[in-house]
Amino acid sequence: MRISVIGCGYLGAVHAASMAQLGHDVIGIDVDATKVHALRAGRAPFYEPGLPELLKDSGATGRLSFSTDMADASGSDVHFICVGTPQVHGEFRADLTYVNAAIAALRPHLRPGDVVAGKSTVPVGTAEAIAESLEGTGAVLVWNPEFLREGFAVKDTLHPDRLVYGVPTDDEGVPTAEGARAKEVLDEVYATPLSEHTPLVVTDYATAQLVKVAANSFLATKISFINAMAELCEATGADVTRLADAIGYDARIGRRFLNAGLGFGGGCLPKDIRAFMARAGELGVSDALSFLREVDSINMRRRVRMVDLAREVCDGSIVGKRIAVLGAAFKPDSDDVRDSPALSVAAQMQLQGAHVTVTDPQAVANAEAKWPDLHFAETALEAAKDADVVLLATEWAEYREVEPDALAEVVAHKRILDGRNVLEPAVWRAAGWTYRALGRP
Ligand code: UDX
Repeated sequence: MRISVIGCGYLGAVHAASMAQLGHDVIGIDVDATKVHALRAGRAPFYEPGLPELLKDSGATGRLSFSTDMADASGSDVHFICVGTPQVHGEFRADLTYVNAAIAALRPHLRPGDVVAGKSTVPVGTAEAIAESLEGTGAVLVWNPEFLREGFAVKDTLHPDRLVYGVPTDDEGVPTAEGARAKEVLDEVYATPLSEHTPLVVTDYATAQLVKVAANSFLATKISFINAMAELCEATGADVTRLADAIGYDARIGRRFLNAGLGFGGGCLPKDIRAFMARAGELGVSDALSFLREVDSINMRRRVRMVDLAREVCDGSIVGKRIAVLGAAFKPDSDDVRDSPALSVAAQMQLQGAHVTVTDPQAVANAEAKWPDLHFAETALEAAKDADVVLLATEWAEYREVEPDALAEVVAHKRILDGRNVLEPAVWRAAGWTYRALGRP
């Protein structure tokens, strides 16, 4: 099929390259000429494992190209909308500027029968408004939310754990003839994953849009639940990692997403739960999501608690103390620092008078652009030179494997804070370190 992908960020760039990999002819379109230039040259504009190889492979087939000109979308059978929906500054709701601009720019290039597939995470009701704005073009809108995780984006796109299509439906919720035809078109796009028995849910627009925010809210709730338990563990001397293991053996609960620590960040979970609360308010059902406020507060409290813990191990004051922070990205295998707990804690400690040096295998450039007042180092050992305390803030494999003895040689004081509960306390204590973590004795 001929496919256009509008917006080539974390979502769109991976989607475009993956669709070409699945055998389609793909044009990726973005307003950012620098990004398009990099993608054309086969370079990923951000760090994502597997993406450079995928761009190279797909590029070699001649089926993948990039452009800044929306006119190049004409002639495609399916147009995927992959632009960002950030949080409005100073408010909870999502900013739909990029989605609306993409649709307005695409509209003149649509032909009757074209399918427009929305992938961006939007407040429920957006798809209905877009469908209305497409009236008169003969194009049909499908809402096809994306569930990819950064760090696993290529795998999640080529082998998704489910596909969801929100199609036009009649008053009884049954797909209209147009909806049924659009489903067939998307089935052809996703023929390979569907042949691998990927579960498919075909539903109405509202449900499809809600699936995405409901899933992210559930994941955020799970993380904040275990972080709330960490607060109880801190008050009682219990160990949250053992608690998570024990409750996780119950298949109804499951161990995944029960890792207590600095909590969730990134470009999705925090802003998605806030936008969901804002939308619930507009719909007059804010009570239904009032628990998400608590989920958000528990999450933000962990960052404050970590600064307090640093103060505690520094005998009551971090003023003038040298603190090494291992990790700047919001999670490992990403260079994304949007709402990163690691960077947020680093910045708070620096603002409170500490001398903070941050290191990260991939995210230093992005971190430096955001917080130029922090100090940066290339490696963990460089960052930890003369440190009064070392904080592991993002669990990159190389930080999980750091040797207590090697680190001991460069620091001023052997104090380690494990912000992600990934180190073995006994090993560090045996090597003479003061080991502290969130939710562990
Ligand atoms: C998330 C969803 O997982 C994905 O399905 C959706 O499409 C986009 O949002 P992502 O933002 O890439 O993906 O990251 P995710 O792996 O979900 O992690 C989010 C944050 O939660 C990270 O900061 C991570 O460190 C934190 N986290 C995750 C925990 O603190 N504990 C856990 O147990 C799991």
